[in-house]
Amino acid sequence: MSDDLRKEAASVAQALRRKLERERALGSGELVAAGVARARREGIPARSNGAVEHRGSAASMQSPTVSRRPEPVSVTAVDSPAFEPPTPSTDPEAFTLSPPEPHVRARKRSSHLTAVVEEERDELPPFTDDLHASALAGARDRLAVEAFPVLESVAAEARACTKCGLCTTRTQAVPGVGSAASGIVFVGEAPGADEDLRGEPFVGRAGELLTRMIAAMDEKQLIPSVKLSRETVYIANVLKCRPPENRNPLPHEIESCSPYLLRQLEALKPRIICCLGKFAAELLLQLKGTVSGMRGKTYRWRGAKLIVTYHPAYLLRSPSAKRPVWDDLQRLAQEYLTD
Ligand code: URA
Repeated sequence: MSDDLRKEAASVAQALRRKLERERALGSGELVAAGVARARREGIPARSNGAVEHRGSAASMQSPTVSRRPEPVSVTAVDSPAFEPPTPSTDPEAFTLSPPEPHVRARKRSSHLTAVVEEERDELPPFTDDLHASALAGARDRLAVEAFPVLESVAAEARACTKCGLCTTRTQAVPGVGSAASGIVFVGEAPGADEDLRGEPFVGRAGELLTRMIAAMDEKQLIPSVKLSRETVYIANVLKCRPPENRNPLPHEIESCSPYLLRQLEALKPRIICCLGKFAAELLLQLKGTVSGMRGKTYRWRGAKLIVTYHPAYLLRSPSAKRPVWDDLQRLAQEYLTD
């Protein structure tokens, strides 16, 4: 066989292998088989759906104890979900997981951030099973417990912080909410008025929409066997304090505040980070750009995958953006499910 023929055969084989891996990752039968096989390997009883006992975290950061996800049930029509993901009956395309676009080449852009954006899936370091929420032996749950004191200490520091001047206008700092239980982290921009009053991120109108987006992912079982809720994901912002009149974060504020987010991410060891809007994306990717230019790709941030989508506040102003956001959430799920 000539060199050219050999190369072509190798590239066809590689493409086929990737396709099979993708299909395997998405096929529930295979998921069941993989779950059972892993359970056998580890000597842990698998449930009938093949998922190994996954326990999501409890309702607050105060107590990241775990509770078992109920057996997946078939999805019946939800009561007109307010985050209206396009339904298969009205638009079959909307629920088709499109294959991820090629990753963009790795870059290291700053000393304290290592945004890694990869071109080739094969170049990505593999995820380990123990970072997957449905992995065996509750490794994610243990990680959530270990992360808890670190998150608490970051929160205490942020609440006492006076570094950037926003402390003079804030009611209180808004460190973050949730747990490392699922390995999914949503990063927004900065607290608004409601968050400033309550000390919790994404509790105003945009926050209600984010909560419904997470609930829709759960209802549609985008990540089977992993319970998705405000308690099992982590939600944080680039800035921990509200800028007056909700103005955009200033560069020196981002500079002073971003170490809190980075420490949170280091403790959470996310499997996937979802940047909500431009400020989170620009910070973590160390890129300048628009959300529409940055979304639709999968990046790497240290050991985690990272995707970018529109901020829920933008969705409130532009409901037609719900479609691309739902596509992004499906990308998130697909990337979560594949190594
Ligand atoms: N917008 C954000 O970016 N974060 C919040 O917590 C609330 C609104």
